[in-house]
Amino acid sequence: MQADLLVHNAGQLITIASDGPQSGREMGRLGICHDGAVAVRDGYIVKVGASSELRSEVKAQRVIDALGRVVMPGFIDPHTHLVFVGSRVNEFEMRLSGATYLDIMAAGGGIMSTVRAVRGASDEELLAQSRARADDMLAQGTTMAEVKTGYGLTTADEMKCLRVIQHLDRTHPMDLIPTFLGAHAVPEEYRGRADDYTELVIQEMLPAVAAQRGLACFCDVFCDDGAFTLNQARKILVAAEALGLGLKIHADEFAALGAAKMAAEIGAVSADHLIRTPREEMGSLADSGTVAVLLPGTPFGLGEREFARAQDWLEAGVAVALATDLNPGTCYCGSMPFIIALGCRYLGLMPAQAVVAATLNAAYAIGQESRVGSLEPGKVADLIVLNTDDYRDLAYRFGGNLVATVIKAGKVVVKG
Ligand code: NIG
Ligand code: FE
Repeated sequence: MQADLLVHNAGQLITIASDGPQSGREMGRLGICHDGAVAVRDGYIVKVGASSELRSEVKAQRVIDALGRVVMPGFIDPHTHLVFVGSRVNEFEMRLSGATYLDIMAAGGGIMSTVRAVRGASDEELLAQSRARADDMLAQGTTMAEVKTGYGLTTADEMKCLRVIQHLDRTHPMDLIPTFLGAHAVPEEYRGRADDYTELVIQEMLPAVAAQRGLACFCDVFCDDGAFTLNQARKILVAAEALGLGLKIHADEFAALGAAKMAAEIGAVSADHLIRTPREEMGSLADSGTVAVLLPGTPFGLGEREFARAQDWLEAGVAVALATDLNPGTCYCGSMPFIIALGCRYLGLMPAQAVVAATLNAAYAIGQESRVGSLEPGKVADLIVLNTDDYRDLAYRFGGNLVATVIKAGKVVVKG
């Protein structure tokens, strides 16, 4: 068999080959192949198996010796706010002195201060600052990320953010999956008129977004105290679905408004945050196949002590994914390995479960499971080599970078 690339001699080849998302007690099946190898042709995986077998069967133009280390799928980050400019380090200091995130938001800071910065930035500035963060994510092993708008909050500025996401996707090795989050906050010019802003999102923004094929795959809403109500969120998401967009929601981060349950009722692909979801509402996500995207970097970033309870979600039969939530307000972190380390300490995940949550289940959370998330023939050859022979080190060790090599669609894009 001819191939462009053969990666062999992987001490642990983590394939995560599965028929569906992993949930319940079954979560954490890594499909480890000891002394494994992967062959790649035209950017796709063509064969996975034992090194000895592939070395004799595959004639490859380029060969990479993994030297007994871990080889696994690239991380998929299914929830980021990557595209923004500026910093909110002053708000970080305010929180350290006792102000809460919702206090700062109610006083006109928070999301709105980044909105002002983004509205004032050129496409080039927005692109340059976002690209630097994308480089950092790729270096830490993320080969695909979902990216939300939500710092424009006018039709023109939301479209500007979507254009920047599209341009970055086309010019950066990391794949970006775009989400329209026009309902991220009620902008100051609509203060006290949230229903009017909701109508603007539905009547003007959504049709503009949906008119250009591929500009957004999903629509998301921040449904919480101080943001959008359950009814406003439902109206926006129902309108988005009618225009062909997939659905996502920021649910139960600060207040349990019933948003996760509502998301399940309307068939959302994921519900995200989920810190305060009551136990009796969890089963509805299992019924609808909605993935629970948990974001432990956010309460950590806010210095809070309450985290989502991953084992409750798993017991309810829901597939759990992990994401960074990378954003300037609550979690300025693009590192999936650090999120895995937090997930094991504060959400109650085991390392094998956290690895599935950051790869296969994350692919399901953004509807990309047919292309990525596991190492199987037919999938895109997005893989990473770690500087360790034990995948559990991803959770156990933290604060450095264990990612040695990143291969995107069969091409080496990071060589540590
Ligand atoms: O997911 N919760 C809402 N949105 C972001 C925070 C955005 C910001 O503060 O800029 C989040 O945590
Ligand atoms: Fe978020």
